[in-house]
Amino acid sequence: MNPIRIALTKGRLEKTTIELFEKIGYNCDEVHNKGRKLILSVGGGQFEVVLAKAADVITYVEHGVCDLGVVGKDTILEKGTSFYELLDLGFGKCKFALACKNGYDFYHGYGAKTIATKYPNVTRTFFEGKDMDVRVIKIEGSVELAPLVGLSDGIVDIVETGSTLKANNLSVIEYVTDISARLIANIASLKLRKKEIEELVSKLEAEVK
Ligand code: PRP
Repeated sequence: MNPIRIALTKGRLEKTTIELFEKIGYNCDEVHNKGRKLILSVGGGQFEVVLAKAADVITYVEHGVCDLGVVGKDTILEKGTSFYELLDLGFGKCKFALACKNGYDFYHGYGAKTIATKYPNVTRTFFEGKDMDVRVIKIEGSVELAPLVGLSDGIVDIVETGSTLKANNLSVIEYVTDISARLIANIASLKLRKKEIEELVSKLEAEVK
């Protein structure tokens, strides 16, 4: 049998995900010593791990080239869900928030507000729910800069500790939703590799409870 292939989000979620796999008994030495290698053996060959950017984790799982993925709910909400979400892994906790410059009365006036964000779909859905017309500008990183330089009235972004907002004289107007890391599965893989996936899920479930 081929190993189960898992796409892991590199960066913020990477360390905790690997720690979790080690806690449930899978050897991750090859990940620790990965160098520039992109496909890594985990659990003595039972799994193959691919480290990828969050949005790419979803792409690999949707296309079935990875059976499973670990990705933040933020990316899931932005990209849609043509895969199964199996488990809330309980780490990578943060929130989506609408924020603006301290003291700015965001809801004042009738003109359409401009929002900068890395998450245009989440942002549009949030304001549709309020029946509010907004202009959305897609930004790739350091979204907090946009209202400071006058590009937008506000931002919709991830807030974890709140220190980026605080350091830049921005404050939360409203929280949009809670976020954490999720285990996702390709729909066909869940049927074809049911037993192995269920075994992994029950081990993870017992650990993250
Ligand atoms: C995220 C997010 C905020 C920051 C929030 O950015 O977009 O900028 O973290 O964290 P805090 O509330 O703990 O300050 P990230 O560091 O992933 O980089 P980016 O802004 O370049 O996307």
